[in-house]
Amino acid sequence: GNRTFTMIKPDAVENGHIGAILEQITASGFRIVAMKLTQMTRRDAEKFYEVHAERPFYGELVEFMSRGPIVAAILEKENAVEDFRTLIGATNPEDAAEGTIRKKYATSVGENAVHGSDSDENAKIEGAFHFSGREMF
Ligand code: GTP
Ligand code: MG
Repeated sequence: GNRTFTMIKPDAVENGHIGAILEQITASGFRIVAMKLTQMTRRDAEKFYEVHAERPFYGELVEFMSRGPIVAAILEKENAVEDFRTLIGATNPEDAAEGTIRKKYATSVGENAVHGSDSDENAKIEGAFHFSGREMF
């Protein structure tokens, strides 16, 4: 697949890292196909993270992801899903490789600065959750 979906999460937006994160993403060869500043309602976040509903951190995750604006974007590059997950680093910034976006900008395992789709199928679903066809270029 050549597309993935990302969100710059509320912590990174609050901490003023939108510009630096977008710069690292585009410098790494990803083209921005769609992008907006938006805020998920609690209900949006519950639906977006439905697969994690049984996890102990689900409530915390929904609360966090709906507490402020995010940057949602669709990115294009060969091998996009895998390469983007390499660029952002491990879920827990303490385990993330040096130079990765989460190593540089995440504050904790929960508030970890960015999202990256984990499969081509989910990239499509997640992109469609946030964007209409007319918003993709
Ligand atoms: P995403 O790209 O955001 O999907 O992260 P991921 O694929 O690296 O992790 P995963 O899908 O397993 O978890 C989704 C999100 O739930 C993480 O990015 C964190 O924001 C949050 N999360 C995961 N594990 C924990 C945890 O142990 N505690 C808390 N509070 N949040 C967690
Ligand atoms: Mg995930």
